[in-house]
Amino acid sequence: MRVASSRSAELFARAQRVIAGGVDSPVRAGASMGAPPPVLCNARGAHIWDVDGNEYADYVCAYGPVLLGHAHDALTSAVDAALQRGAVFGATHPDEIRLAERIRAMMPGMQLMRLVNTGTEACMSAVRVARAFTRRERLVRLRGCYHGHVDEMIFSAGASSNSTPTIECGVTQATVAGVTIVPYNDLAALEAALRENVVAAVILEPVAANMGLVLPGDGYLLGVRAACDRAGALLIFDEVITGFRLGPGGAQERYRVRSDLTCVGKTLGGGLPIAAFGGRADVMAVLAPQGAVFQGGTFSGNPVCVAAAHALLDTLERDRGLYDRLDSLGRRLAGGARAAIREAGLHYPVVQLGSMVDFAFRAGSAPRNYDDAVQADGAAYARYYWKMLERGVLLPPSKMEVMFLTAAHTDEDIDDTVAAMRDALRI
Ligand SMILES: Cc1ncc(COP(=O)(O)O)c(C=O)c1O
Repeated sequence: MRVASSRSAELFARAQRVIAGGVDSPVRAGASMGAPPPVLCNARGAHIWDVDGNEYADYVCAYGPVLLGHAHDALTSAVDAALQRGAVFGATHPDEIRLAERIRAMMPGMQLMRLVNTGTEACMSAVRVARAFTRRERLVRLRGCYHGHVDEMIFSAGASSNSTPTIECGVTQATVAGVTIVPYNDLAALEAALRENVVAAVILEPVAANMGLVLPGDGYLLGVRAACDRAGALLIFDEVITGFRLGPGGAQERYRVRSDLTCVGKTLGGGLPIAAFGGRADVMAVLAPQGAVFQGGTFSGNPVCVAAAHALLDTLERDRGLYDRLDSLGRRLAGGARAAIREAGLHYPVVQLGSMVDFAFRAGSAPRNYDDAVQADGAAYARYYWKMLERGVLLPPSKMEVMFLTAAHTDEDIDDTVAAMRDALRI
């Protein structure tokens, strides 16, 4: 097994002496890869460099936010200019209002919203709002969907969160007792969970991208919507990954199902920390100061992140062909991966939707839920990860994360990556 190159290894050891586990977010440690991934220091377009000067085609893209490419000129200059005008005001400012208007125009279901800093905050706040509006306490989640590191959403989650509903993971039994977990793509289980009409909200990723890539089956999202309506529960779509990545209107536009509340983040800031939650005006009215639900934040709606979001939305509006290009890159990568897998005599399913691509390291049909996804062969994935790294391709250091593409990837990048896959899968 490869060991990260010298300067990387040295820096990671130094990091472990001051940063818990050497990382500010556990997946970055690559625990299941057997050794830490390279320490990165520079990125431009679709490429990223480590501290030893190795260049990689980047398919991690910071786990989703980078849609236009790293260090995109429009974003960089918007952020520079905003900083000159003051990083944070602690008051409503015009660009923040305009940003909310633009988000609402793209996602009309977000009639009223709040800007926050992270997806975690957005999901946590949406659930609190749902509880206050319905005056109910129970939350229903889907196993394998990740909604950030809030106590009641961190266990039985997907991604690289290995938390269980136990005190060892810092989660109290009282918290666990308030949450029902059901499998993804299983309407009967959801209906059973909603039967007693005590559920405040069902929260899910409409396209699940934290257990590899798991697509909603035909009619599933419509079925979820109908089940929530029958039970008087609010439906929360966590579009922190899919919002602005699958299209301007996210998964809800693509699948034509509207949620009561929506959370967006990641892509919105093009790499800067900004997120939002919002939805029906009558529901959002529970927020203080009109209502009793407190939610707030020192950095919420700060001008620098807002400027980055405007630059992203400007580009989305200007570049009409962007999503088609992203989709064709995604298809090219998925097609190449399928061929490479076939040639290697393997039977892994490749799942692609727009600029997200995943192949589970397990034979069979595409995963429908967490129980399928978790069968991926972690040891085989780890071997593949290091072989791809040696061939100049940076993949997520976890079998549960997906490959992300940006508008800066080229056909040539994809073809080189597919050639590396052929090589890496063959040996
Ligand atoms: C679907 C989804 N929701 C919420 C979050 C949490 O977002 P953040 O890491 O910005 O707190 C993530 C992060 O990966 C996510 O993928």
